Amino acid sequence: MPSKRSVTKWWAAEHGADAALVSRFSAPGTPPGPLLEPEVNGISFAQGFKQVVDQALGDMISDGHLRLEAETGGYEAADRAADRLAAVHTSAARLLNCAPDEIALVDSATRAWDLAFYAVPSDGLRQLADERVRLISITHVPTNGGLVNPAAEVGKVAAEAGALFLLDACQSAGRLPIDVELVGCDLLSTTGRKYLRAPRGTGLLYVRRAALDRLDPPFLDLHDARWVAPSRYEVQPGARRFENWEYGVAARLGLGAAIDEALA
Ligand SMILES: Cc1ncc(COP(=O)(O)O)c(C=O)c1O
Repeated sequence: MPSKRSVTKWWAAEHGADAALVSRFSAPGTPPGPLLEPEVNGISFAQGFKQVVDQALGDMISDGHLRLEAETGGYEAADRAADRLAAVHTSAARLLNCAPDEIALVDSATRAWDLAFYAVPSDGLRQLADERVRLISITHVPTNGGLVNPAAEVGKVAAEAGALFLLDACQSAGRLPIDVELVGCDLLSTTGRKYLRAPRGTGLLYVRRAALDRLDPPFLDLHDARWVAPSRYEVQPGARRFENWEYGVAARLGLGAAIDEALA
């Protein structure tokens, strides 16, 4: 095993990837993905990673959105990318077999999971059929060990108990097919940076439309709600009430490119 300092270079050499590109998308001293499973659907992790990184880099840095931001300013650049930005929700919805308005784009799996978990009201027990359970949350594929939890089976148990089901798909989205209808989850959190091979600082939360009324978003900003009277506001319809008004436009476009690549 190489020293911590050279691990990115070593990983790139082992997997035939360009070390400079890999290091741009990895924390110092950290390889960009699990080392134990170099192949996903017959495509090596390094190959897939490099392809998407090339595309994302081209899009974000060399001739793409970051340059446009530098030239025209963040708001003008975002306006010009409006169609491509809207397409990111559509791509994510295709990935999970849901509707675009059931997707909230956020900046990590942790943020997505926290938003879902803390959105379950504390008096949820009284609102649900089984008073002992208000939320069942499992990790689809835990970080180490290769275990794949039977998510659809857990989904059935949650449905029978009348509990919300939150699936952490951080290690499975982009690696295993996930259909939220088959799994039966009400909420799903995932990151961009793992098997979707998207830029750092991207993630998403799926929220089943029918579950929205049972959730109370822990944070609301001007993107999530609008004032309708001096002391009354209305939250956005759909999962976008969980998004931030502010986000990295280039990173989001990179997430869209990576999801489209995973779906291709
Ligand atoms: C199963 C699982 N859930 C959640 C996370 C957190 O992801 P992020 O750091 O993108 O928030 C990880 C990251 O390693 C993970 O493996």
